[in-house]
Amino acid sequence: MGSGGGRGRAVSGDAEITRFRELLGRRLGWAYTDRDAGQLAPLLDERARHRRLSRDDYLHRLAARPWEEELTALIERLSITETYFFRHGEQFRALREEALPERLAARAGQRVLRMLSVACSSGEEAYSLAIVAREALPGGNWLIDVLGVDANPAVLRQAEANHYSPWSLRETPDDVRERWFRPDGAGYRVAEDAARITQFRRHNVADPDDEVWRPDRYDVIFCRNLLMYLTPAVAAALIARMAAALAPRGYLFLGHTDSLGSSPAGLELRHNHHAFYYQRTVATVAPPAQRPAVARAEPVHPADEVYTKAVVLLGEERFADALALIDEHSPAPQGPGFSAPSEGPGAGSGRAEQARHRLLRGVLLAQSGRIDEAIETARRMIDDDGLDPDAHQLYAVCLEGDGATEAAVGQYRLAAYLDTDFALPRLRLGQLARRHGDERAAAGELEQALALLAAENDRRILLFGGGFGRIALTVLCRSELDACGVRR
Ligand SMILES: C[S@@+](CC[C@H](N)C(=O)[O-])C[C@H]1O[C@@H](n2cnc3c(N)ncnc32)[C@H](O)[C@@H]1O
Repeated sequence: MGSGGGRGRAVSGDAEITRFRELLGRRLGWAYTDRDAGQLAPLLDERARHRRLSRDDYLHRLAARPWEEELTALIERLSITETYFFRHGEQFRALREEALPERLAARAGQRVLRMLSVACSSGEEAYSLAIVAREALPGGNWLIDVLGVDANPAVLRQAEANHYSPWSLRETPDDVRERWFRPDGAGYRVAEDAARITQFRRHNVADPDDEVWRPDRYDVIFCRNLLMYLTPAVAAALIARMAAALAPRGYLFLGHTDSLGSSPAGLELRHNHHAFYYQRTVATVAPPAQRPAVARAEPVHPADEVYTKAVVLLGEERFADALALIDEHSPAPQGPGFSAPSEGPGAGSGRAEQARHRLLRGVLLAQSGRIDEAIETARRMIDDDGLDPDAHQLYAVCLEGDGATEAAVGQYRLAAYLDTDFALPRLRLGQLARRHGDERAAAGELEQALALLAAENDRRILLFGGGFGRIALTVLCRSELDACGVRR
């Protein structure tokens, strides 16, 4: 087996969680970080107990060979399944006004239109596609086919049951509700005309499936709010499969948080009706790129042991121990802040190391409630490099901790301005705007934060995530955004 040593020899709790995370990545393609350990540890205990196995034996069994029944239990417990009809209405508008007219013209000879909803959850997205396609048809005699796939059998059962609460229709325009939904008890059913053309199938995107991924098949693929949960390798393979499964000039719609990276093979970015989407550009698409699609991890400087250990202590919220460790081994003079080293051979890497230590130290001081010292550290960092977004972010966090909210907002803005990929200041700006009742501004910031969080680097999440991992921050951001109540 893996990192745990030998079979039968118990591994430490941390190593077991790491192993569990690895297995979730391997079997389901899910990317968990150290920060998600708090969520995974009780689940690992619960599942091992349920199987009457030790943690170690449970993990061994999960690693040894496919264990469908257990994977199902894990998927049903861990997957985030939030969805509703016509979610992100601007994308459906772009579909209706841009993509479908073009695809219907391209398919006029065959009169066949195929659409795919990847990670369809309880079916609302797939049925929404079917409704829009039905409405767009120029006349009868077309074969329309919508396929929804998801790894979670519980949500697929709901999709097949085709029965929804009024809450699932919260973004459905009244005229669409009247035409395409039938009241049923306290809820609604999708009308037969759209339901009939919509099928569901269980599919785990971490596994191949030749039936789903036939080349050149789909006119439109929706894959929203899945990529951000996947490991870079699985996300890259899925993107390549989707590109190859699209018909030439077919359309791909992603969630707001998802990103294909800078230059996805065979896909070009389009923008209309306030919606981003991609269109397949070429007749043939190259096989999966090995390059990760979603920029994520930044190396954690393996050579720098003290830093690495201190970071682990920060993750465990042992701030005083981490500070003591840094202060004991710091490569530079002690104190609330310390100056950059002088020029000379090796000064570049030494300076980078010192800057890293100083930032971590500042974060630890702030987390320990030693706000004055943390502020002093942040100011010195800004003195040394006024364009360092991390320094401004640290300063903002300190100012907020000190009750200087307005000044903090200015610093968060600077951090976001200096690095337009920095998600965390935007998240905080959104939360603060919402707290002050400015829901429109809050929604704008939170939307940007959501879009950036998938690619936020791990180091920043650890330093500035307030103890949350990427997934928890994403869920937090989305629920703040939903709570804004601003129509997007
Ligand atoms: C947040 S929902 C997205 C629903 C819908 N696409 C939307 O944006 O409204 C994410 C879905 O991804 C599914 N999922 C997670 N991992 C998956 C995997 N490896 N293969 C297929 N589906 C997966 C979950 O079961 C869940 O239903």
